[in-house]
Amino acid sequence: MENLESLKRTILDEIKTADSLKNLDDIRVANMGKKGRLTEMMKTLSSLSLEEKIALGKQLNLVKSEVENAILAQKNILEEKELNAKLAAEKIDITLPVRPETQGRIHPVSKIYEEVVAIFGQMGFDVVNGPDIEDQFHNFNALNMPANHPARQMQDTFYINNDPSKPFDMDQAFVMRTHTSGMQIRTMEKQQPPIRIIAPGRTYRSDYDATHTPMFHQVEGLVIDKNITMAHLKGCLYDFMKAFFELDELPVRYRPSYFPFTEPSAEMDIGCLKTKTELKIGAGTDWLEVLGCGMVHPNVLRAGGINPDEYQGFAFGLGIDRLAMLKYGIPDLRTFFESDVRWLKHYGFTPLDFSSLTGGLSNNGGLTR
Ligand code: PHE
Repeated sequence: MENLESLKRTILDEIKTADSLKNLDDIRVANMGKKGRLTEMMKTLSSLSLEEKIALGKQLNLVKSEVENAILAQKNILEEKELNAKLAAEKIDITLPVRPETQGRIHPVSKIYEEVVAIFGQMGFDVVNGPDIEDQFHNFNALNMPANHPARQMQDTFYINNDPSKPFDMDQAFVMRTHTSGMQIRTMEKQQPPIRIIAPGRTYRSDYDATHTPMFHQVEGLVIDKNITMAHLKGCLYDFMKAFFELDELPVRYRPSYFPFTEPSAEMDIGCLKTKTELKIGAGTDWLEVLGCGMVHPNVLRAGGINPDEYQGFAFGLGIDRLAMLKYGIPDLRTFFESDVRWLKHYGFTPLDFSSLTGGLSNNGGLTR
């Protein structure tokens, strides 16, 4: 009996110090397997007297079940340990960025475009697109600028011969669209009021200096419905400017102006502070022109197939590049189109920042400067 008792203690000690499932299984086999120590002891029972058999058999069974329980308990401990070790080894820090730094950059023009769409989108405007090469009807005539109208000289137009087999004919020539206003007509041709659209796109004029490039970007806006007034125009553009420059207060003013396709026409200025080194929007006593706008001229509504006695509308044209220069402090427009990656790295935006009114428009945190 002494023997059995000390064997039991040895086995239980071994089980407790087993440090792997494999090790534990080896201990099990060594004691309870076919040739295991306890199994061998069981075999000796047959040579004993009945009484001894009963007594030792009972004890052996007790020891066996104690050993089995100890093995099971240790197995649980080791399994949990192994699982924890595995989890610790496979641990991923999900707060780490996927990649240390994104390589590409979003061009400021694309960024401003996204911002403008985010704001007008929330006001319920649809986005429409049209051709860069335009006919004179949509670019001029339908916008109340018939041939020889002096206003055609306001814009230095690129003309394109639309039939290379014939000599250039000024009246038939296509133009690189000089503004996005042709989209007013194209929209009216397709859609009955109520109309609420913006039309972003490339526009072209023969002009080149620090604030003019032959290709630049505009966003046209058009709203047509019953009882639309200049108050709607003013409110809409004021809300837009505040959202765009991310300011709660922004001084604005509307100056009388002239466009053949709007009557009355206006230009919108925003308040700013100009110093030799700085331009601060929303403060100070200086003014910056930001867009042209007005009430859609009755002739334009007629050209688009809409009855001006029934419907009114307002329209506006924003220069995207100009807005980018103002908002992000980029001094020379020509650099926008030089495709210099160093410039883009400096002025561009990370592709993972999306513009939205709720999540942040320009995500200044994402600005690479
Ligand atoms: N098309 C005008 C321009 O390019 C801007 C404008 C659009 C003005 C719509 C009034 C209404 O200067």
